[in-house]
Amino acid sequence: MAEYACGIDIGGSGVKGGVVNLSTGELVSDVASVRTPVPSTPASVTAACGEVLEILGVSADTPVGITFPAPIKKGIIPFIANLDESWVGVNIAELMSKQLGRSVVVINDADAAALGEVYFGAARGVPGEVIVTTLGTGIGSGVIVDGRLIPNVELGHLEIDGFDAETRASARVKTAENLSWEQFAQRLQRYYSFVEMLFSPDLFVVGGGVSENHEKFMPLLNLRTPIIPASLQNKAGIVGGACAATGRM
Ligand code: BGC
Repeated sequence: MAEYACGIDIGGSGVKGGVVNLSTGELVSDVASVRTPVPSTPASVTAACGEVLEILGVSADTPVGITFPAPIKKGIIPFIANLDESWVGVNIAELMSKQLGRSVVVINDADAAALGEVYFGAARGVPGEVIVTTLGTGIGSGVIVDGRLIPNVELGHLEIDGFDAETRASARVKTAENLSWEQFAQRLQRYYSFVEMLFSPDLFVVGGGVSENHEKFMPLLNLRTPIIPASLQNKAGIVGGACAATGRM
């Protein structure tokens, strides 16, 4: 197994990457980031990944894992909520490997965050069912059962009170609607209690940039299930992408 791999995390606002030491989960490079292009088409986003690789100076023999904000079934994007619609039906791993001139692994962004937390973070060694959620442009979910990832679970699109959940309780919505932490916590309360009712998990892990401010909203939540911040915070995607690059799934 390779000792180092590069993870690139494609988000709604930025594409960021880093080189990860796979024994420790630590970044051995700076985080390189570029803005997510608009429109965020397959060609433009792939080019942005190429820029990140170039900034990082990733060598040809370093494995690369790319995280993407949509489910990926047999390489293909079945639907997409937060990037350009032209991604639907695209075989993303094939496209990116061809355009970037190297073989890359592509994985859902929240699944990657969950892998990062399982190998090196808050979910390490936790038995039973762990649901890792990422609060960002959308709501991502990665479900881990006894250390194994169940891929492509899309709990951000649960319909709650007549709304697609991520249009009520993502970090983007907090900013767009100028919600106070208390108001945001009320939305999250509704969301997490619904997920808790459906799954009765053993642990919730909350990631995404907003989890840096966990003390502002997490203590306001009243759940049966323990809920803790992601320990890799917004680097979980990069670390998880690097894990996926080397078959740590
Ligand atoms: C997508 C998920 C993704 C999440 C976070 C959702 O809109 O459907 O696949 O994990 O956003 O980016």
